[in-house]
Amino acid sequence: MYKFIIEGGKSLKGKVKVKGSKNSALPILAATLLCEDEFVIDNVPILRDILTMQKVLEVLGASVSIESNRVKVDTRGAVGYEAPYELVRQMRASYYVLGPLLARHGRALVSLPGGCAIGTRPINLHILGLKRLKADISITHGYIDAYGNKLRGSCIFLEGPNGPSVGATVNVMTAATLAKGLTIIEGAAMEPEVTDVANFLNKCGAKIKGQGTRRIEIRGVKKLHGCEYEIIPDRIEAGTLALGAAISRGEVFLEGARQDHLQSFLDKLREVGVDIFVEKDGIAVKMDKDILSTDIETAPFPGFPTDMQAQFTALLCLANGVSIVREKIFEERFMHVMELARMGADIRRESDYVVIKGVPCLYGTTVMASDLRASAALVLAGLSASGTTEVRRIYHIDRGYENIEERLRKLGAQIWRQEE
Ligand code: UD1
Repeated sequence: MYKFIIEGGKSLKGKVKVKGSKNSALPILAATLLCEDEFVIDNVPILRDILTMQKVLEVLGASVSIESNRVKVDTRGAVGYEAPYELVRQMRASYYVLGPLLARHGRALVSLPGGCAIGTRPINLHILGLKRLKADISITHGYIDAYGNKLRGSCIFLEGPNGPSVGATVNVMTAATLAKGLTIIEGAAMEPEVTDVANFLNKCGAKIKGQGTRRIEIRGVKKLHGCEYEIIPDRIEAGTLALGAAISRGEVFLEGARQDHLQSFLDKLREVGVDIFVEKDGIAVKMDKDILSTDIETAPFPGFPTDMQAQFTALLCLANGVSIVREKIFEERFMHVMELARMGADIRRESDYVVIKGVPCLYGTTVMASDLRASAALVLAGLSASGTTEVRRIYHIDRGYENIEERLRKLGAQIWRQEE
């Protein structure tokens, strides 16, 4: 196990290229299982979740090779249909193989993911959507056991109580590419990663329209083929680095960051006093003033992303005034709150929101990472804190950020990885 040691107080300065999107790369890699062919996927971030997806594909019989940020997948030998608990428990997103396996083999046996630190995370919408395509699905012995030799297009409303589901939209959309006839997903998730998966599938020969809107139409085709594809930049990595600049009173250019993927987040940054300059090839972020308070409520895209909630909370701990941050997607996504309090934040949780009274500074201490974005929040807090911060259990952060300490160090941060 490793931990980060951070000496706070250094402003981040310089230019950094945003890595490819984890949440696009995972379903796109899984979707290569839809046909027997070769694929070259570029701009894949090399992080723990991607390596877990590599193992899932290999267990299913595909061969996968990784060279810097380029992943080659050959699915010609991929005859397996079982994603075992041992892998799925390491990464929930393993369930992205469900739709592709069902569509290609008419059979999928995928372990149920089990508990999660940020909330209950049901998968009822995935199952409901696939059942509407005439798949026969049961839950037995901890597995999703699915049959579907003759998937048929259907009209499906896919929203749950907290809004659309990214995962369910992607699973149903990928399965529908090979179903007979037309599938219409109403209440589809509009996240850029869903659009990226649809664009990838279209490059493989699928017929998908409406991605990026609430209504996606998929006209089933008989067969798909391999292709070369480049993953979009990771808006959450970009946002986290932007917050690094803001919290450390620095100035960073985020090469490749896209305004259209980050609008609600950038507007909140502007509201708290950060200067944002949108340029042709990226976004510059500069902070040299006092941080102002604001209120935030997470929402499905294009609303404020739940995946930026913990990191923005870290910034608001230092704002002038009181802020309220409400979490509307994942009810338990507050694991960072008590750790930030240990660093001197005046913060308290009330059901689905936190109240933050800004303090002039945070203090370094030992804190525990508990999930991916909560860990990023603690690293951000450490960058601004006075003294030394030790962030333990950083395997969580390695799930979603490629070489984060090296990238932050290049921007001037004092952060090192050490064995615990
Ligand atoms: C994806 C992202 C995750 C992000 C989340 C919301 C990946 C690998 N992960 O997760 O980083 O935080 O989108 O933007 O891309 N729900 C149901 N039933 C279901 C599925 C979901 O009720 O069958 C609920 C969830 O509990 C949650 C909401 O729908 O309240 C949205 O979840 P969803 O969009 O499905 O999240 P994921 O796809 O798991």
